Amino acid sequence: MTVFFIGAGPGDPELITVKGQRLIHRCPVIIYAGSLVPEAVLAGHSAELLVNSAELHLEQIIELIKNAHAKGQDVARVHSGDPSLYGAIGEQIRHLRQLQIPFEIVPGVTATAACAALLGAELTLPDVSQSVILTRYADKTAMPPGEEFSSLAQHGATMAIHLGVNHLQKIVAELLPHYGADCPIAVVHRATWPDQDWVLGTLNDIEQKVTAKGFRRTALILVGRVLATDHFSESSLYRAGHAHLYRP
Ligand SMILES: C[S@@+](CC[C@H](N)C(=O)[O-])C[C@H]1O[C@@H](n2cnc3c(N)ncnc32)[C@H](O)[C@@H]1O
Repeated sequence: MTVFFIGAGPGDPELITVKGQRLIHRCPVIIYAGSLVPEAVLAGHSAELLVNSAELHLEQIIELIKNAHAKGQDVARVHSGDPSLYGAIGEQIRHLRQLQIPFEIVPGVTATAACAALLGAELTLPDVSQSVILTRYADKTAMPPGEEFSSLAQHGATMAIHLGVNHLQKIVAELLPHYGADCPIAVVHRATWPDQDWVLGTLNDIEQKVTAKGFRRTALILVGRVLATDHFSESSLYRAGHAHLYRP
Protein backbone atom coordinates (compact mmCIF):
# COMPACT_ATOMS: atom_id res chain seq x y z
CA MET A 1 0.00 0.00 0.00
CA THR A 2 1.33 3.44 -0.94
CA VAL A 3 0.08 7.01 -0.65
CA PHE A 4 0.77 8.81 -3.93
CA PHE A 5 0.95 12.60 -3.62
CA ILE A 6 0.03 13.59 -7.16
CA GLY A 7 0.46 17.00 -8.77
CA ALA A 8 -2.72 17.71 -10.71
CA GLY A 9 -1.22 20.64 -12.59
CA PRO A 10 -2.60 24.19 -12.74
CA GLY A 11 -6.14 23.40 -13.90
CA ASP A 12 -6.26 22.13 -17.49
CA PRO A 13 -6.90 18.37 -17.09
CA GLU A 14 -4.45 17.70 -19.94
CA LEU A 15 -1.64 19.12 -17.82
CA ILE A 16 -1.41 16.23 -15.37
CA THR A 17 1.41 13.73 -15.97
CA VAL A 18 0.69 10.36 -17.58
CA LYS A 19 1.82 8.72 -14.35
CA GLY A 20 -0.46 10.88 -12.21
CA GLN A 21 -3.46 10.13 -14.41
CA ARG A 22 -2.71 6.39 -14.45
CA LEU A 23 -2.59 6.36 -10.64
CA ILE A 24 -5.86 8.31 -10.36
CA HIS A 25 -7.48 5.74 -12.64
CA ARG A 26 -6.39 2.80 -10.51
CA CYS A 27 -6.32 3.95 -6.86
CA PRO A 28 -9.32 2.76 -4.82
CA VAL A 29 -9.10 5.84 -2.57
CA ILE A 30 -8.78 9.41 -3.85
CA ILE A 31 -8.43 12.44 -1.62
CA TYR A 32 -8.25 15.63 -3.68
CA ALA A 33 -7.80 19.30 -2.83
CA GLY A 34 -11.12 20.40 -4.29
CA SER A 35 -10.50 24.13 -3.99
CA LEU A 36 -7.94 24.07 -6.82
CA VAL A 37 -8.10 20.61 -8.39
CA PRO A 38 -10.75 20.48 -11.15
CA GLU A 39 -13.11 17.50 -11.12
CA ALA A 40 -12.16 16.88 -14.77
CA VAL A 41 -8.72 15.71 -13.58
CA LEU A 42 -10.48 12.85 -11.78
CA ALA A 43 -12.44 11.71 -14.85
CA GLY A 44 -12.19 7.98 -15.48
CA HIS A 45 -11.43 7.09 -11.87
CA SER A 46 -12.83 3.90 -10.37
CA ALA A 47 -12.31 4.79 -6.70
CA GLU A 48 -14.68 3.41 -4.11
CA LEU A 49 -13.92 6.43 -1.89
CA LEU A 50 -13.59 9.93 -3.33
CA VAL A 51 -13.15 12.73 -0.79
CA ASN A 52 -12.68 16.48 -1.18
CA SER A 53 -10.05 17.45 1.41
CA ALA A 54 -11.14 21.11 1.34
CA GLU A 55 -13.80 20.09 3.86
CA LEU A 56 -11.41 18.23 6.20
CA HIS A 57 -8.71 19.07 8.71
CA LEU A 58 -5.32 17.33 8.84
CA GLU A 59 -6.24 14.70 11.43
CA GLN A 60 -9.31 13.69 9.41
CA ILE A 61 -7.17 13.28 6.29
CA ILE A 62 -4.66 11.14 8.17
CA GLU A 63 -7.52 9.05 9.56
CA LEU A 64 -8.75 8.33 6.02
CA ILE A 65 -5.22 7.33 4.99
CA LYS A 66 -4.84 5.08 8.05
CA ASN A 67 -8.12 3.33 7.18
CA ALA A 68 -6.94 2.76 3.60
CA HIS A 69 -3.61 1.47 4.91
CA ALA A 70 -5.40 -1.00 7.19
CA LYS A 71 -7.29 -2.32 4.15
CA GLY A 72 -4.15 -2.40 1.99
CA GLN A 73 -5.61 0.19 -0.42
CA ASP A 74 -3.45 2.63 -2.37
CA VAL A 75 -4.36 6.29 -1.96
CA ALA A 76 -4.16 9.01 -4.62
CA ARG A 77 -3.70 12.27 -2.68
CA VAL A 78 -4.22 14.88 -5.37
CA HIS A 79 -2.87 18.41 -4.93
CA SER A 80 -2.90 21.37 -7.30
CA GLY A 81 0.10 22.31 -9.42
CA ASP A 82 3.21 20.65 -8.08
CA PRO A 83 2.74 19.22 -4.58
CA SER A 84 6.15 20.37 -3.37
CA LEU A 85 5.13 24.05 -3.48
CA TYR A 86 2.66 25.35 -0.89
CA GLY A 87 0.96 21.97 -1.04
CA ALA A 88 0.96 21.27 2.72
CA ILE A 89 2.28 17.78 1.98
CA GLY A 90 5.11 18.15 4.49
CA GLU A 91 2.78 17.86 7.47
CA GLN A 92 1.08 14.80 5.94
CA ILE A 93 4.43 13.15 5.20
CA ARG A 94 5.53 13.76 8.80
CA HIS A 95 2.51 11.75 10.00
CA LEU A 96 3.06 9.03 7.39
CA ARG A 97 6.69 8.62 8.45
CA GLN A 98 5.62 8.26 12.08
CA LEU A 99 2.99 5.72 11.07
CA GLN A 100 5.43 3.95 8.73
CA ILE A 101 3.03 4.30 5.82
CA PRO A 102 4.90 4.33 2.47
CA PHE A 103 4.45 7.29 0.16
CA GLU A 104 5.65 8.57 -3.20
CA ILE A 105 5.44 12.02 -4.78
CA VAL A 106 4.44 12.42 -8.43
CA PRO A 107 5.39 15.93 -9.57
CA GLY A 108 3.08 18.24 -11.48
CA VAL A 109 3.09 21.38 -13.61
CA THR A 110 3.33 24.28 -11.20
CA ALA A 111 1.32 27.50 -11.61
CA THR A 112 4.50 29.48 -12.32
CA ALA A 113 5.24 27.36 -15.39
CA ALA A 114 1.64 27.61 -16.57
CA CYS A 115 1.62 31.41 -16.17
CA ALA A 116 4.94 31.81 -17.99
CA ALA A 117 3.54 29.70 -20.83
CA LEU A 118 0.43 31.87 -21.02
CA LEU A 119 2.52 35.02 -21.19
CA GLY A 120 4.81 33.49 -23.83
CA ALA A 121 7.78 34.25 -21.60
CA GLU A 122 11.09 32.68 -20.69
CA LEU A 123 11.68 33.50 -17.02
CA THR A 124 15.47 33.15 -17.26
CA LEU A 125 16.94 35.34 -20.01
CA PRO A 126 20.71 35.80 -20.36
CA ASP A 127 21.86 39.20 -18.98
CA VAL A 128 18.38 39.97 -17.60
CA SER A 129 17.67 37.40 -14.91
CA GLN A 130 19.08 33.95 -14.34
CA SER A 131 17.12 33.19 -11.19
CA VAL A 132 13.48 32.78 -10.32
CA ILE A 133 12.35 33.36 -6.75
CA LEU A 134 9.18 31.44 -6.00
CA THR A 135 7.66 32.98 -2.93
CA ARG A 136 4.44 34.03 -1.27
CA TYR A 137 3.23 37.16 0.39
CA ALA A 138 3.13 36.72 4.17
CA ASP A 139 -0.36 36.77 5.49
CA LYS A 140 -1.33 33.91 7.82
CA THR A 141 1.99 32.05 7.51
CA ALA A 142 4.83 34.35 8.60
CA MET A 143 8.02 34.42 6.55
CA PRO A 144 11.10 32.91 8.22
CA PRO A 145 13.89 35.37 9.12
CA GLY A 146 15.89 36.39 6.07
CA GLU A 147 13.01 35.69 3.69
CA GLU A 148 11.10 38.91 4.24
CA PHE A 149 9.60 40.06 0.96
CA SER A 150 11.66 43.24 0.86
CA SER A 151 14.92 41.30 1.25
CA LEU A 152 14.00 38.87 -1.55
CA ALA A 153 13.16 41.85 -3.76
CA GLN A 154 16.69 43.22 -3.33
CA HIS A 155 17.96 40.56 -5.76
CA GLY A 156 16.00 42.01 -8.68
CA ALA A 157 15.51 38.45 -10.01
CA THR A 158 12.34 37.24 -11.70
CA MET A 159 9.77 36.64 -8.96
CA ALA A 160 6.67 34.47 -8.83
CA ILE A 161 4.50 35.57 -5.94
CA HIS A 162 1.80 33.21 -4.75
CA LEU A 163 -1.23 34.04 -2.62
CA GLY A 164 -0.54 37.76 -2.95
CA VAL A 165 -3.15 39.32 -5.20
CA ASN A 166 -5.09 40.80 -2.27
CA HIS A 167 -1.91 42.52 -1.07
CA LEU A 168 -0.93 43.99 -4.41
CA GLN A 169 -0.60 47.52 -3.09
CA LYS A 170 1.94 46.50 -0.42
CA ILE A 171 3.77 44.20 -2.84
CA VAL A 172 4.17 46.97 -5.41
CA ALA A 173 5.41 49.38 -2.73
CA GLU A 174 8.09 46.88 -1.65
CA LEU A 175 9.15 46.05 -5.21
CA LEU A 176 9.39 49.64 -6.47
CA PRO A 177 12.74 50.63 -4.93
CA HIS A 178 14.45 47.55 -6.39
CA TYR A 179 12.72 47.01 -9.74
CA GLY A 180 11.75 50.57 -10.80
CA ALA A 181 8.32 51.90 -11.76
CA ASP A 182 8.65 50.81 -15.40
CA CYS A 183 9.36 47.16 -14.53
CA PRO A 184 6.88 44.75 -16.14
CA ILE A 185 4.56 42.83 -13.84
CA ALA A 186 1.81 40.39 -14.74
CA VAL A 187 -1.08 39.06 -12.71
CA VAL A 188 -2.48 35.80 -14.04
CA HIS A 189 -5.84 34.59 -12.80
CA ARG A 190 -6.68 30.86 -12.99
CA ALA A 191 -4.14 30.03 -15.67
CA THR A 192 -5.27 27.15 -17.94
CA TRP A 193 -8.83 27.08 -16.50
CA PRO A 194 -11.65 27.89 -18.96
CA ASP A 195 -12.04 31.35 -17.35
CA GLN A 196 -8.31 32.15 -17.31
CA ASP A 197 -7.43 35.83 -17.63
CA TRP A 198 -4.39 38.03 -17.07
CA VAL A 199 -3.05 41.56 -17.21
CA LEU A 200 0.43 42.75 -18.06
CA GLY A 201 1.45 46.17 -16.85
CA THR A 202 4.21 47.95 -14.99
CA LEU A 203 4.70 48.54 -11.30
CA ASN A 204 3.26 51.97 -12.04
CA ASP A 205 -0.12 50.90 -13.39
CA ILE A 206 -0.71 47.27 -12.35
CA GLU A 207 -2.93 48.10 -9.37
CA GLN A 208 -5.50 49.95 -11.51
CA LYS A 209 -5.42 47.19 -14.12
CA VAL A 210 -6.00 44.44 -11.58
CA THR A 211 -8.75 46.41 -9.83
CA ALA A 212 -10.48 46.82 -13.19
CA LYS A 213 -10.30 43.05 -13.74
CA GLY A 214 -11.51 42.27 -10.23
CA PHE A 215 -9.04 39.40 -9.58
CA ARG A 216 -9.35 38.36 -5.93
CA ARG A 217 -8.14 34.74 -5.62
CA THR A 218 -6.12 32.07 -7.42
CA ALA A 219 -3.85 34.52 -9.14
CA LEU A 220 -0.10 34.49 -9.51
CA ILE A 221 2.02 37.63 -9.71
CA LEU A 222 5.06 37.47 -11.99
CA VAL A 223 7.49 40.36 -11.92
CA GLY A 224 10.73 41.01 -13.74
CA ARG A 225 12.23 42.55 -16.85
CA VAL A 226 12.17 39.14 -18.58
CA LEU A 227 8.44 39.68 -19.17
CA ALA A 228 8.92 42.41 -21.77
CA THR A 229 12.35 42.77 -23.30
CA ASP A 230 14.21 41.89 -26.48
CA HIS A 231 17.52 43.05 -25.03
CA PHE A 232 19.39 39.94 -24.01
CA SER A 233 22.25 37.87 -25.40
CA GLU A 234 21.75 34.61 -27.21
CA SER A 235 22.55 31.54 -25.16
CA SER A 236 25.89 29.87 -25.77
CA LEU A 237 24.02 26.55 -26.09
CA TYR A 238 22.77 27.32 -29.62
CA ARG A 239 25.39 29.89 -30.69
CA ALA A 240 27.09 28.91 -33.97
CA GLY A 241 30.78 28.43 -33.30
CA HIS A 242 30.25 27.37 -29.70
CA ALA A 243 31.33 23.74 -29.41
CA HIS A 244 29.99 21.37 -26.80
CA LEU A 245 29.50 17.66 -26.20
CA TYR A 246 26.63 17.28 -28.72
CA ARG A 247 28.04 19.70 -31.33
CA PRO A 248 31.83 19.26 -31.31
C1 LIG B 1 -1.74 26.91 -2.18
S1 LIG B 1 -0.84 27.51 -3.56
C2 LIG B 1 -0.63 26.01 -4.46
C3 LIG B 1 0.44 26.10 -5.52
C4 LIG B 1 0.56 24.82 -6.34
N1 LIG B 1 1.06 23.74 -5.52
C5 LIG B 1 1.45 25.00 -7.57
O1 LIG B 1 2.47 24.31 -7.69
O2 LIG B 1 1.09 25.80 -8.43
C6 LIG B 1 -2.11 28.32 -4.42
C7 LIG B 1 -1.63 29.58 -5.12
O3 LIG B 1 -0.89 29.22 -6.28
C8 LIG B 1 -1.21 30.11 -7.33
N2 LIG B 1 -1.96 29.34 -8.36
C9 LIG B 1 -2.30 28.04 -8.31
N3 LIG B 1 -2.92 27.67 -9.45
C10 LIG B 1 -2.96 28.77 -10.23
C11 LIG B 1 -3.45 29.03 -11.54
N4 LIG B 1 -4.04 28.09 -12.27
N5 LIG B 1 -3.32 30.30 -12.03
C12 LIG B 1 -2.72 31.26 -11.31
N6 LIG B 1 -2.23 31.07 -10.06
C13 LIG B 1 -2.35 29.84 -9.54
C14 LIG B 1 -2.06 31.22 -6.73
O4 LIG B 1 -1.19 32.22 -6.23
C15 LIG B 1 -2.75 30.48 -5.61
O5 LIG B 1 -3.20 31.37 -4.62
